[in-house]
Amino acid sequence: MEGKRIGILDSGVGGLTVVREVFRQLPKERVVYFGDNARCPYGPRPGDEVRDFTLQMAEYLLQYDLKMLVIACNTATALALDYVKDRLPVPVIGVIGPGSRAAIKATAHGRIGIIGTINTVNSEAYPQHIHKINPSHYVKSLACPTLVPLVEQGGYKKEEALEEVRTALQSLQGENLDTLILGCTHYPLLQPVIHQIMGEQVTLIDSAEETAREISTVLYQLNQLEEAERNDSHLFFTSGDPKDFEEIAVDWLGTSVIVKHHHF
Ligand code: DGL
Repeated sequence: MEGKRIGILDSGVGGLTVVREVFRQLPKERVVYFGDNARCPYGPRPGDEVRDFTLQMAEYLLQYDLKMLVIACNTATALALDYVKDRLPVPVIGVIGPGSRAAIKATAHGRIGIIGTINTVNSEAYPQHIHKINPSHYVKSLACPTLVPLVEQGGYKKEEALEEVRTALQSLQGENLDTLILGCTHYPLLQPVIHQIMGEQVTLIDSAEETAREISTVLYQLNQLEEAERNDSHLFFTSGDPKDFEEIAVDWLGTSVIVKHHHF
């Protein structure tokens, strides 16, 4: 009998950065993913809309026999984590706790930057998490609303990405940061460009690695870690164009995937 699945969702392709880490750290697990590409970006949307859309995806994924759900979107984590947790019969985790922990482990001098969507930055979820653990860290947040569309349109590898990202990150120059949290799951696709602009001295934090570790802890505690051999029967759904989604998924995951369309 095939085991239950880990549900992973995002406003679009960003959650694939978490899927890649799950494939790497937990290769025996089966994943079902939903990307709400048709309604992306969530970053500038009103909070109640983000909550409704996130719950809609979560409930859709429940039919695929979930053992847990991962909100692999910082915006939806900031605005909808507790809302979805209260309404789902399985454990639900987000990406902001893991991202904050990873930054605290990495920072050398306690000067941490956060880049994310308008909603994530306005929620102040990252500074709150970080200051709960260490109130003396300096935290500088910056909303970068142009970067999610750049990734969604597949422009993350193109030449113009460098100038676009340089403009978006301009106000971080001179902040003397030693650590920068990629506080949007879309941004790791731009990691080489962000690294080039921020320089060697800034450690970039992608919350995916720490999130996959938390998934493994939750499943271990539930005694639901998969023991059977690796299988590739993952499922991917998008509310947008499956071809566009597939192109980015194959590029990022390095494996062929089947993507189906679902319209809400
Ligand atoms: N990947 C989402 C995040 O982590 C992007 C949000 C958006 O759709 O604007 O915040």
